[in-house]
Amino acid sequence: MNQINMVLEQCCFQLTPVKFIFSSPRKKSLPYRKVTLRPILLQEQLAFQAEYHYEKKAIHENFQADQVVGACMELALRDFKQINLFTEEEDIQILAAKPDRPRITRKPGTLRQETLAHNQSRQYLIPDGKPCDFLTRLGVMDETGRVFQKHYSKFRQINRFLEILQDVFDVLPQKAGRPLRIIDFGCGKAYLTFALYHYLKVEKNLDVEIIGLDLKEDVIDFCNEVARDLRYDGLRFLMGDIADYTSDHADMVVTLHACDTATDYALINAVRWNTSVILSVPCCQHELFGQIQNSLHQPMFKHGILKDRFTELLTDGLRGLALEARGYDVAMIEFTSLEHTSKNIMIRAVKTRSENSRAAEEYRRLKEYYGARPTIDALL
Ligand SMILES: C[S@@+](CC[C@H](N)C(=O)[O-])C[C@H]1O[C@@H](n2cnc3c(N)ncnc32)[C@H](O)[C@@H]1O
Repeated sequence: MNQINMVLEQCCFQLTPVKFIFSSPRKKSLPYRKVTLRPILLQEQLAFQAEYHYEKKAIHENFQADQVVGACMELALRDFKQINLFTEEEDIQILAAKPDRPRITRKPGTLRQETLAHNQSRQYLIPDGKPCDFLTRLGVMDETGRVFQKHYSKFRQINRFLEILQDVFDVLPQKAGRPLRIIDFGCGKAYLTFALYHYLKVEKNLDVEIIGLDLKEDVIDFCNEVARDLRYDGLRFLMGDIADYTSDHADMVVTLHACDTATDYALINAVRWNTSVILSVPCCQHELFGQIQNSLHQPMFKHGILKDRFTELLTDGLRGLALEARGYDVAMIEFTSLEHTSKNIMIRAVKTRSENSRAAEEYRRLKEYYGARPTIDALL
């Protein structure tokens, strides 16, 4: 049974699912003779639609991605002896008359996934179906531009990021004779750094100089190699710690999912460099967890999970206020939807004035109320 479960997991999430067919009923009394499942998009999320084939009708049922393997297991163990799993990569047949000793055969895939229904109506800045060099090179889409199902959430995240970039495009300082300088702190494998370059240089033909910084040497080497292969001149990657990377400047600072206080060091750099636009998605905000105290909140803080969530929001609230105090217009916006729940708030900050004493005072009062000593204090 474990084997069946593993194969189903693989077909749903690691390969590109096209169609699953459950046939050969275990009992003659089963009211439906066959069940087919295919992937669909429901509110931008991968889901699966099952079609139960009765004698004279078909009934549909949708399953969220996290329910589908359970539902398929039930169909396999309770109802059907044969399962055919068609994915783009492989066609897999499971003969499971004895579920604990299934016979599994695999052949190269013969079917292609139809464009998922919702994609057709969604106009992404980088569309699914149109080849895009960096997405192909990073394994998000194939040579024909088809996005691999398992990378669809990354694809959506990249496009969401570009939408946000598009919104701040007009406030980016574009001066003749000087490239627009952007630093992406904690770039990781740099899907979004490449997306930045692609959008600004390849699509908008701007003179840009983009740096991705990360602690990991292997990641930096890989990203530099990809940038070279793609001839993305003006995009380079450096190894280093954000906290030490203080002597530079940038028109825009990006920091997406840099852990804990790494985000603060990126924000501190940006403010000290008088950076015009900051796009930051914080994560792993642990710093205040061991610091905050408040007798009124104690009955809530005694639950670690609540204190943890609260700490996240307080950390970002203080970051937002610190940026406002230093003259930024700050908006907290949703970066991605549910799939990255706890990491989906973006701090979008645009420099508009010199200082804001009201925000500085609000920052001070909030911080003192909870006894917090955040790293972002360095800005005030
Ligand atoms: C979760 S990944 C995010 C990668 C990418 N920004 C994204 O959103 O897809 C976080 C990255 O931040 C890097 N990082 C964490 N702390 C850092 C620091 N102090 N200096 C430089 N990079 C750091 C890690 O090495 C890791 O690659």
